[in-house]
Amino acid sequence: MCGIIGYTGRKNALPRLIEGLKALEYRGYDSAGVAFVHKNGIKAVKSKGRIALLEEKLKGEQESFCAIGHTRWATHGEPSDVNSHPHGTDSVYIVHNGIIENYAVIKEFLTEKGYSFESETDTETAAKLIDWFYSKEKSPISAIRKALEMISGSYAIGAVFEGYPDKIYAFRKDSPLLAAPSEDGGFITSDISAILRHTREFIRLEEGEIAVLSPDSIEILSTDNTPIERDFETVSWDIEAAEKGGYDHFMLKEIFEQPDAVKKTLSPRVTDGLPTLDITKLAGRCVGELGAIHIVACGTAYHAGLIGQYAIEKLARIPVKVELASEFRYKNPILRKNDLVIIISQSGETADSLAALRLAKERGVRTLAVVNVAGSTIAQEADSVLLTWAGPEIAVASTKAFSVQIALLYLFAIRLALDSDTISEEEARQYCTELTTDVPAAISKALDLTDLCSSTAQKYKDNSSIFFIGRGASSALAHEAALKMKEISYIHCEAYAAGELKHGTISLITDGTPVFAFLTNRSTADKMISNIREVKTRGARVMLFCREGMPIPDGIADDIIPIPSLSQLFMPMSEIIAAQLVAYYMSCHLGCDVDKPRNLAKSVTVE
Ligand code: G6P
Repeated sequence: MCGIIGYTGRKNALPRLIEGLKALEYRGYDSAGVAFVHKNGIKAVKSKGRIALLEEKLKGEQESFCAIGHTRWATHGEPSDVNSHPHGTDSVYIVHNGIIENYAVIKEFLTEKGYSFESETDTETAAKLIDWFYSKEKSPISAIRKALEMISGSYAIGAVFEGYPDKIYAFRKDSPLLAAPSEDGGFITSDISAILRHTREFIRLEEGEIAVLSPDSIEILSTDNTPIERDFETVSWDIEAAEKGGYDHFMLKEIFEQPDAVKKTLSPRVTDGLPTLDITKLAGRCVGELGAIHIVACGTAYHAGLIGQYAIEKLARIPVKVELASEFRYKNPILRKNDLVIIISQSGETADSLAALRLAKERGVRTLAVVNVAGSTIAQEADSVLLTWAGPEIAVASTKAFSVQIALLYLFAIRLALDSDTISEEEARQYCTELTTDVPAAISKALDLTDLCSSTAQKYKDNSSIFFIGRGASSALAHEAALKMKEISYIHCEAYAAGELKHGTISLITDGTPVFAFLTNRSTADKMISNIREVKTRGARVMLFCREGMPIPDGIADDIIPIPSLSQLFMPMSEIIAAQLVAYYMSCHLGCDVDKPRNLAKSVTVE
């Protein structure tokens, strides 16, 4: 959510910032802006809308060798030129990710000192607070420290000060920020993908530290302002991984990366046909002593949790609760000391999930993070971590992250079950073989459905509402399928457990109402067919996601997408591919912005 980039060096900063902001645009795209040092001081140029508009505004600007930039996802104040970052004064400009929670108090304090405010943002209050202290202290470091004593909330901030024309100051709390050296200067960024063309090395700033970047050095100051030595980390993936690689959209590329992503995530964790996961290490106690499992997450990761719940309860017979992180935190959850809280998050930075993790830790409950971004805040703070190795996910609508999350939860469930003696070693081996070989093969086969998914999407694209129904794990999957469709095509979708439709919502089914039904579960096929008939007789236009080879009674389906067959446990892994493809093509046919759907952000770092 929101993206930060800054550069100080020997080359023109502005093209570097625009290039970086374009790479960060997936994190926020309401508006963007830069503040750059020029011969008369600091100048800010901002624009509502996409980076291309900002780029246009910057044409003709003189060179600058030190600048900060931001792409915004609005929280306080609508997207507009004036609410765009950077915010500041003649003396200081800042870019900010996060939320200044006590901005009203700061505003009052500053108003009394004679400050006025032009934007509705919380960030402007932080900028002017730093300005106030800078006017007293004359030192950027002291001004930042004094301001931070008053600020509460979450922030990653980059700042430039008049009087220090080649320096960028950077600091953070609860929101990531990196400092990185390159051949011709230093960068700050909230996301390494923004600067991969220039460097692969970076330092992850810790809370309380201030980084001072000059063209030739990065100095990290500890809380008492003493310089500290920090090792550089190196990015493990290359720039191609963060580029479209010939695909029209990141989303399509990421959908196609799924067979590999699943293999990469699982293969190193299976030896001699069995999962090598060490439950005692991951859960902090052996399976016999484990109480309940709470899976906590947001959005797509929450839906992965729902599938994980089916797998763990089915195989290991351990009770699992799946909670939305934003609810978990405020409901005073019942957590017992033997329980395990699993936080699932692609980014590892989602504020609600982070808050849930911290709550569990405060309560003394063991935490395990399933995270895609190594070194992210959630990965760092959880007691143990299982990394999904999907590579960077850029499209806002999550696809490959979902698949690797459920793949890893399956593997975890198999290990739990084996350790709990609820399945035999032979069964565990069979499950593992299927998971590591048949599942990636089925995903690859499902990717051959692109043309059919595209033509199916074309048929349904003019509907204003679609129902998704399924049973068992496919009912959880229906929620993810509906979410994908809603996120990127803006068609209203409802997901339902198929058996529940008749308890109310069937009243919404009239002539031609589209119902997308998952008919994949052999054991509940009869019931599912009855549910489909219930909607069909009320005029629904039924599109079946149907397991290949499953007998389909006449007259229940208007359209069919055959889903490559797997054992029931793993069917969601091939079902989701077709659902993602239909959502993707729906968005394309409707002319929507697939990778950057309106109002959404990839990583939501506010609660
Ligand atoms: C945002 C994204 C969703 C994502 C959710 C959780 O809302 O738009 O696609 O599923 O955050 O993100 P996380 O990084 O924690 O998995």
